[in-house]
Amino acid sequence: MKDILNELEARRDVARKGGGQRRIDAQHGKGKLTARERIELLLDEGSFEEFDMFVAHRCTDFGMEKDRPAGDGVVTGWGTINGRMVYVFSQDFTVMGGSVSETHGQKICKIMDMAMQNGAPVIGINDSGGARIQEGVASLAAYGEVFQRNIEASGVVPQISMIMGPCAGGAVYSPAMTDFIFMVKDTSYMFVTGPDVVKTVTNEVVTAEELGGAGTHTKKSSVADAAFENDVEALAEVRRLIDFLPLNNREKAPVRPFFDDPARIEMSLDTLVPDNPNTPYDMKELITKIADEGDFFEIQEEFAKNILTGFIRLEGQTVGVVANQPMVLAGVLDIDSSRKAARFVRFCDAFEIPILTLVDVPGFLPGTTQEYRGVIKHGAKLLFAYGEATVPKVTVITRKAYGGAYVVMASKHLQGDFNYAWPTSEVAVMGAKGAVEILYRSELDDPGKVASRTEDYEDRFANPFVAAEKGFIDEVILPHSTRKRVARAFASLRTKKATRPWKKHDNIPL
Ligand code: HXC
Repeated sequence: MKDILNELEARRDVARKGGGQRRIDAQHGKGKLTARERIELLLDEGSFEEFDMFVAHRCTDFGMEKDRPAGDGVVTGWGTINGRMVYVFSQDFTVMGGSVSETHGQKICKIMDMAMQNGAPVIGINDSGGARIQEGVASLAAYGEVFQRNIEASGVVPQISMIMGPCAGGAVYSPAMTDFIFMVKDTSYMFVTGPDVVKTVTNEVVTAEELGGAGTHTKKSSVADAAFENDVEALAEVRRLIDFLPLNNREKAPVRPFFDDPARIEMSLDTLVPDNPNTPYDMKELITKIADEGDFFEIQEEFAKNILTGFIRLEGQTVGVVANQPMVLAGVLDIDSSRKAARFVRFCDAFEIPILTLVDVPGFLPGTTQEYRGVIKHGAKLLFAYGEATVPKVTVITRKAYGGAYVVMASKHLQGDFNYAWPTSEVAVMGAKGAVEILYRSELDDPGKVASRTEDYEDRFANPFVAAEKGFIDEVILPHSTRKRVARAFASLRTKKATRPWKKHDNIPL
């Protein structure tokens, strides 16, 4: 018996060493942790239960039968994050560059199937040279099986991708279909075709970092949701994010203990909006002053900064926040901000996370660039996402809510449950200056008349009361009481049930 136990331990030791000390040192030398070290930091101490430690590939081409490392380049299993179950796969770059074989893919599929069956998130740690070249189509098939599961799991369990090394070619499409992608600066990259192919095909000379590094994907392409300094920080932040999320689409997000009075008054908010309607202010200040303990987990902080998206808690419960940011492009809606916010709204709705919308929006961004790139379709994404969302929706207009953008931003007309406005709100078709220029074109060379017409329009429309008279605004609230009002609104909506007509699925303008 003792011999058998020793043999098991010996086999485990070999499996745990992956590609061996030389390759582990090389991994560390690049500033990267190993697949197992990453899992250890991601999960609660001692909670990891491994599957398939001894799985080996079945390839016999190119002499592969002589090299069959235990585990086949991916560590899979489940464990807990702050006591809540998650499934994990972590590709081991020290074993054949973390390349994906048929059996490597089967290991990932096994834990994805279990995650779906048992209703727990999947966290995938990607660090791979792509399809196992020696296996050919068997490897492509393995990717295809993973893709199909990504699609089926979408909206059922949260899926999070961490890119912690190479992720190239068709392999990028698995993370692309997950809910969130996090990258590590300088050590991770994602692209469909690498710099060499790019040079051959388009003559462009570009480094891997420029083509698909963390900076590119968080600032330019919006493929990734955040970039972190190193593996340790990335893993810690994913633990923080998981705490905001439900385990699956049938459970509520966890309620955390909170030590912040829900009725907390913030007198400074009474002066947040400047007297001059064209002077910006930082909407993030409002978000953190509403949130429990000022805790805001921002999603896509570096992209389309004219809109803010992320998670806060109110009375310990997770709330998704979408907010126009007057500091950037006056908070205008454009293609990028509409896409960013629409995807976030849909994530929240899929996972029963209530949505708080903070509005200060002068309209949609004009121009040929926007029109030619299809702002009509992209703007419609956000409109559609809000209108189809059945989760509790609470909206606060702080200042401008003009034109179509007013309707889009979770207005009463899209079945907002509570639509509040600060007294500084202006709910109108457009700003006074623009309105006068259109309505009184013949008087424009008379500054006196323009001034009086503008004043008249401002008196009549640059306020929340016209909308409030019609019931489009439920109440005009004092800025300092916003946290209390919003918290009470969400509390009253905890039992909300709303349905939409049966359909196979909608046809959101993609
Ligand atoms: C088999 C691979 C491999 C692969 C790397 N290795 N990629 N083995 N299949 N795809 C092995 C190497 O032979 C080496 O083995 C070890 O992993 C580490 O690789 P290095 O090249 O030494 O590492 P590094 O210099 O860091 O370069 C990493 C790399 C490079 C940039 C990822 O290895 C590379 O270009 N690999 C090939 C990438 C590729 O073309 N993949 C197929 C893409 S198509 P030893 O024994 O020396 O340690 C694809 C399609 C997916 O993925 C489609 C889905 C539908």
